[in-house]
Amino acid sequence: MEKAIPFQYQFSSVECYFQSSLASLDELAGNAKVIILTDENLYRIYKEDIQAYPIITISPGEETKQQPTADQVISELLKIGANRDDLLVGFGGGVVTDLAGYVASIYKRGMRLGLIPTSLLAMVDAAIGGKNGVNHGLYKNMAGTINQPSFIIFNIDYLKSLPHEEWVNGFAEIIKHACIGDEAMFQLLEEHEIAYWKSHPDHLAALIERNARFKLEVTVADEKERGIRKWLNFGHTIGHSIENRYSLPHGKAISIGMMAAAKLSVALEGLDSQFPDRLKKLLLTYELPVHFAADHNSLIELMAADKKMTSKGIDFVLLKAPGNPTIRNISLKELTEFLKIYFQ
Ligand SMILES: NC(=O)c1ccc[n+]([C@@H]2O[C@H](COP(=O)([O-])OP(=O)(O)OC[C@H]3O[C@@H](n4cnc5c(N)ncnc54)[C@H](O)[C@@H]3O)[C@@H](O)[C@H]2O)c1
Repeated sequence: MEKAIPFQYQFSSVECYFQSSLASLDELAGNAKVIILTDENLYRIYKEDIQAYPIITISPGEETKQQPTADQVISELLKIGANRDDLLVGFGGGVVTDLAGYVASIYKRGMRLGLIPTSLLAMVDAAIGGKNGVNHGLYKNMAGTINQPSFIIFNIDYLKSLPHEEWVNGFAEIIKHACIGDEAMFQLLEEHEIAYWKSHPDHLAALIERNARFKLEVTVADEKERGIRKWLNFGHTIGHSIENRYSLPHGKAISIGMMAAAKLSVALEGLDSQFPDRLKKLLLTYELPVHFAADHNSLIELMAADKKMTSKGIDFVLLKAPGNPTIRNISLKELTEFLKIYFQ
């Protein structure tokens, strides 16, 4: 098996494998029992690869990411007789990796966790950094923990079965990384489109590793989100509200949120006024939406419940320049004024 690349968090190391697959699980588990958590779509496609292990399946989709599903998974783990030394492996997109991380951190006060992200979004974002959790009604990720997996296995072969729409979603987070920390990648993305990455697996693998390492490094430096990890919320404050209120896919909602944040950055942080147009062109190239006729009052209502909201206002990620983010506390009043005009 390939040599792991370790990323050292405060209390644990996450071993990353950039060229392995499910086949490595037995070696990684040692004497522990491996239990797979996946969704019905993945189960249908990869049943033969995972049938040697006990499998817990959940329904696919964001609606599943709720506390009752976590309770069901716990019941299944009890039926299987899982112990805290056993290994729960989340094999799927971000919904599965978020749930696996959450359940693994609370089941018997914590069991071993491994992640095998299968969607582009999970490979470059959701499986990394230890954040997990479930939504509460319309409110995103309201219950959860920060719990690092023992290992993450990245394998682009799984993307062969990923629906095109989900490629689009994944590219929203890649473009976010380019905006906040990698202007050279922004330019690289401008030179291509999704079809190019699909037909050049070596370049795609390098792009995924570049993005995974970016998120790994940011979260290693600031695991508890006291400083630079907040940058990763670029586009997410408005994006999450749109995602929940209008049931838009995560990537599409974030894309709309990034455009709004770029416009706000021009007004408040002196970002080059040409940049929003450049970002718009890039997002459209990657088939992402750039605007949405949202009701600003309901967005504000959802943002008021955002975890980042304080009595003073909300910590909003803006750009001073491409690749140069900053955090600015914006009052709810100021935000309401902006959204009223932006989403009219
Ligand atoms: N924890 C974090 O830091 C973090 C960061 C970003 C996003 N997220 C969360 O991730 C979730 C979104 O992740 P997602 O877009 O992967 O969603 P998802 O898990 O719902 O996957 C999207 C769809 O693709 C299917 N799928 C996944 N991999 C596949 C494959 N290889 N072949 C065929 N079908 C496949 C799934 O069954 C599902 O229908 C959201 O809940 C979001 O909040 C978490």
